[in-house]
Amino acid sequence: MPNALLVGAQWGDEGKGKIVDFLSRDADVVVRYQGGSNAGHTIEIGAERYILHLIPSGILYPDKTCVIGNGLVIDPLALVKEIKELEQRGISAHGRLHVSDRAHAVFAHHKALDSAQEALSAASGASIGTTQRGIGPAYTDKTARQGLRMGDLLSPDFETRLEQHVAESNKALAALGAKPLDPRAVVAEIRPAVEFLRPFIADTVVLLNEACKRGRQILLEGAQGTMLDVDFGTYPYVTSSNPTSGGACVGTGLPPQAIGRVIGVIKAYTTRVGEGPFPTELFDATGERIRKTGREFGATTGRPRRCGWFDAVVGRYAALVNGIDSWAVTKLDVLDELDPLRVCVAYECDGRRYDTVPACAALLARCRPVYQDFPGWKTSTSAVTRFQDLPVAARSYVEALCDLTGVPLGILSVGPQRASTFRVGL
Ligand code: IMP
Repeated sequence: MPNALLVGAQWGDEGKGKIVDFLSRDADVVVRYQGGSNAGHTIEIGAERYILHLIPSGILYPDKTCVIGNGLVIDPLALVKEIKELEQRGISAHGRLHVSDRAHAVFAHHKALDSAQEALSAASGASIGTTQRGIGPAYTDKTARQGLRMGDLLSPDFETRLEQHVAESNKALAALGAKPLDPRAVVAEIRPAVEFLRPFIADTVVLLNEACKRGRQILLEGAQGTMLDVDFGTYPYVTSSNPTSGGACVGTGLPPQAIGRVIGVIKAYTTRVGEGPFPTELFDATGERIRKTGREFGATTGRPRRCGWFDAVVGRYAALVNGIDSWAVTKLDVLDELDPLRVCVAYECDGRRYDTVPACAALLARCRPVYQDFPGWKTSTSAVTRFQDLPVAARSYVEALCDLTGVPLGILSVGPQRASTFRVGL
């Protein structure tokens, strides 16, 4: 089987953790390629619930190798915490989790800058609503060619360099009206984490390419989603990396030929966390009901997610940008009691119809959805394990999502448990 790439087709939180977990069974190596601890991938196994922020979900299988690719920005403190929490639950990452020496590190000053920038923009009503995990400032340092990478953590002059970085960023913090950080305290806090992570840091570019040459199955896991992509999302209301499939090569060092198939994960409705345009957002009791039934609260920040109807324009655009071969449609069961269901098939703005997502966020914010209505099924689907056992209206709804986005269905999920995710057709 060709290597698979899994990508979020909406604004993140599509249920990727669950699908990666499902697909990990057939993989030898699972690799994350972008983002950082802004992500929160939830996986439920029996009575156990795991929320992973940096480590690929494949870690929950004892025989899988997991890689944190060079495209990530890694908070060493958060990573150590995550590894230790897994260890406490009997899951060891030693010897099978490899962290790219080329990935950039996130430090206390990145997180402080993220918060200070958000606070300042909030005062003028222009905040992004970031997760405040230091993601934007760390990627800014990377592209400004002044970041520290995971490999640098191991060099003898690391502590001096970090102190200089913190001292330098204190100027920016002061300009933003925020409190300065004590460079020595930042270094002292990170020191034990550096020692702990030493055995995990490796040249993952070589590791992944060798695994690929040996014919090992690689599963590439994106975080966030297409509409949060710094190039293709609702800029500037985006994250600072490329969650789209194109980001997988630059975020791992694997060439395009190594990627065989692209699976798009898409929820049967839409959610978004943070600020920015969201054409199908619901501000009424239906939106509230979706939020409650779907437990739509951020896995990383606990923030309530904005909820709305399925947006086929977004789905079509995601299919185009990522080259999606098949959908993994998630959380169909959340719609069980709603009737009718609405699907956005196009946008309208100033008398013009849009069949694709416009680049300008201000224009998208003014777009009105053109809806097509579908009958609900008003019965529980959460125990279904085969597509043909779904109520007719549920099947028609899923088929319509696929028709309207031009992508066939490959996987369907009707609940958080492993047994609630199954293959369809392909
Ligand atoms: P940042 O990635 O923390 O800089 O946040 C930028 C935007 O991306 C904000 O709107 C966040 O709410 C959103 N975001 C970041 N990570 C996730 C995620 O994993 N799921 C959903 N939204 C996210």
